[in-house]
Amino acid sequence: MIKTEQLTRNYGNYRGIFDLTMEIPPGKIFGFIGPNGAGKTTTIKLLCGLYRPTAGQAFINGIPVDRRHRREIKRAIGYMPDHMGSYDQMSVWEYLDFFCAAYRVPKRQRKARVDEVLDLTAAAYMLDYQVDSLSQGMGKRVALAKTLLHDPPVLILDEPASGLDPRARIEMRETIMRLRALGKTILLSSHILPELSSVCDLVGIVEKGRLRAFGTVRDMLARMREHIVLRVRVAEGGDADRAADCCRGQPHVKEALVAGDEVCINYVGPRTDIPGLNRYLVEQGVPVASFMEDEGDLEDAFLHVTREVDATEGTPPKSPAS
Ligand SMILES: Nc1ncnc2c1ncn2[C@@H]1O[C@H](COP(=O)(O)OP(=O)(O)O)[C@@H](O)[C@H]1O
Ligand SMILES: [Mg+2]
Repeated sequence: MIKTEQLTRNYGNYRGIFDLTMEIPPGKIFGFIGPNGAGKTTTIKLLCGLYRPTAGQAFINGIPVDRRHRREIKRAIGYMPDHMGSYDQMSVWEYLDFFCAAYRVPKRQRKARVDEVLDLTAAAYMLDYQVDSLSQGMGKRVALAKTLLHDPPVLILDEPASGLDPRARIEMRETIMRLRALGKTILLSSHILPELSSVCDLVGIVEKGRLRAFGTVRDMLARMREHIVLRVRVAEGGDADRAADCCRGQPHVKEALVAGDEVCINYVGPRTDIPGLNRYLVEQGVPVASFMEDEGDLEDAFLHVTREVDATEGTPPKSPAS
């Protein structure tokens, strides 16, 4: 439904997006995740036809995103930019009615259409509010309602949860689930991994303009499980630095980092050897208060993926605490 082939938009060194090839099947929610400046907005604007690629191509529902197909692309996509433009002195109703007109929704259908999209985004009560008086969370919901006016099959949402408080984020998540149930294919970007990752069927991790990993949430977690993270908490009076020193040099210990009274061990080896490491620490006189394997979540997977990249680029790995 959303497809890119070696999509590239260059702004000079290390900026923009490079050689992006990916495919998102119909009806899926794809989380496009990466730190600020990674190239998410650039990609989104390329997908919507707002930027022209330096190289490569994008397709929406099989339609090439180019000047010739501008109208079809606009019809196929509901795009929510990361910042809502300001519309002084306009009510939510006027705002949405205005965009209905822009999308050529016939006049007599507009009221019903506006009601419908406000229902979908749980924003019906905002109908008479002034657009410029809305909170961040309310504004995002109205902006999302706007993307639905022409009932597009594809929604492209740039940072739909950024700046939202936890409650508004949950509401946004529920809204996105409702839209998936309607069969929409949704791309959403986020610079904060856990923000919406729980709703995503697929995630792509982008950094410095390159797609570093792409797959199901389950794939990402499996990838992370190849590395085991062990956490050793040292009892009061113990010395975490010394505990870390003891770990280093032991079989399968890739690194041991200290964070407060804890040692975080990056372990690559068989699980059956883990108790041996625990025993060794105790034998060395380390007062081990707890010794646990990290359950791990997507955030850890993200750190692992980006750390692998750092290592291949020759820059020192970041500590998990950073
Ligand atoms: N119009 C532009 N001109 C020059 N550089 C840009 C432009 N837009 C974005 N960039 C640069 O491209 C990189 C990616 O930006 P962007 O796609 O906005 O990242 P993200 O949305 O992931 O935060 C950043 O380094 C940014 O400074
Ligand atoms: Mg952005």
